[in-house]
Amino acid sequence: MANTILVGAQWGDEGKGKIIDVLTEQADVVVRYAGGNNAGHTVYVGKQKYVLHLIPSGILRKNKLCVIGNGVVIDPIGLVEEINGLAKLGVKIAKNFVVSETAHVVFPYHRELDARRETVKGKNKIGTTKRGIGPAYGDKAARVGLRISDLVDPVLLKEKLSKRIAENNGVLKALGGKPLSFKKVYADYLAAGVFLKPFVANTVVLLHQKMQGGARMLFEGAQGTFLDIDHGTYPFVTSSNTTAGGACTGSGVPPHRMDRVVGVMKAYTTRVGEGPLPTENAAISDLLHGMGREFGSTTGRARRCGWFDSVATRHAAMVNGIDDLAITNLDGLDTLETIRVCVAYRRGKELYDFMPNDAQVLAECVPVYVEFEGWQTPTDKARTFKALPPKARAYLKAISELTGARLYIASVGPGRDQTIFV
Ligand code: IMP
Repeated sequence: MANTILVGAQWGDEGKGKIIDVLTEQADVVVRYAGGNNAGHTVYVGKQKYVLHLIPSGILRKNKLCVIGNGVVIDPIGLVEEINGLAKLGVKIAKNFVVSETAHVVFPYHRELDARRETVKGKNKIGTTKRGIGPAYGDKAARVGLRISDLVDPVLLKEKLSKRIAENNGVLKALGGKPLSFKKVYADYLAAGVFLKPFVANTVVLLHQKMQGGARMLFEGAQGTFLDIDHGTYPFVTSSNTTAGGACTGSGVPPHRMDRVVGVMKAYTTRVGEGPLPTENAAISDLLHGMGREFGSTTGRARRCGWFDSVATRHAAMVNGIDDLAITNLDGLDTLETIRVCVAYRRGKELYDFMPNDAQVLAECVPVYVEFEGWQTPTDKARTFKALPPKARAYLKAISELTGARLYIASVGPGRDQTIFV
């Protein structure tokens, strides 16, 4: 495997954590490049479940260097908790983990602002994870954010944080929120900075050194294409570039060093939070929730579910340059008699074979479906493509062709062994 970018081809929660874990076997370095602890990547190793929010899931394998790149926003208190939680489960985190000194820091005022803004928006809320992601990226763009290099320098932290708290307390007050105590936030973040300092480095230089040494790199995307700040269903998006381009800006590795893009998508569609979801369907939501599936790994919220939307995934293939597809959760459809796939949208007299940019227009689109016969056979025990029911194989081939990328992996359960290389 050369340098590979892995992205979500839908609205996040595509099962990236598991696919990254599987592909990490063929990589030397795993890099997170966007988002923050709004992400929740679930990986099962045997019966043990791990949910990772910031640390690349490569940490669960031996001799892999895991890097949090400059494009990520880091809640250091959450990161320390994550490191300690993994250590308790016997996961070694030492020289195999590096954090970019230029990644931005998420502070409690970011979380408070996130929550207050959602409350003020009322029924027009975005449905954020309330992890402070939007306000933290906002500060980055406004050039007032603190970076990890500030966090690990007590003098800079004190000086910059005191100014930020003073300003943000004013904003919080205006939004009906509670002011924060500088003393408390400073003490907590100082301690987190001391803890994290040994992991902090110039990751751009480090990654280039590794590449010169022949290391194979895997870029771990978070969230999904339609949550991208530029290419998603704005404003119902997250605040980072979750798409493949973000891997370059979020790591400092240039485009010509990227060899392959793997797109991960479910065999159906889900979304958490507000915003348009053209193929949303109550019956399929009830079916999946009834199976105990499709509850968020970060917030526990029930995900909205719908039929596979090939207009969306085709758009994702275009924007990300997806070469190979990993299709997950095939087993979620095992019991269905008929399976629908959206192939176009209709809005009044207009027929769309692409995703309209305007979220309101998209909300008014009605899916045009084609139907497939369900296989009505459990697939979770299949370990080869041939072992899958012929109707399941036909379905996988059809949705790959409609998306316009090669079928590479089919996943039939959370376990590492439930991964079929096609
Ligand atoms: P934020 O990233 O917390 O600001 O949330 C913005 C939107 O992105 C909301 O609709 C969230 O539900 C969604 N979102 C953020 N992170 C994830 C994720 O990891 N999986 C799925 N949806 C996410």
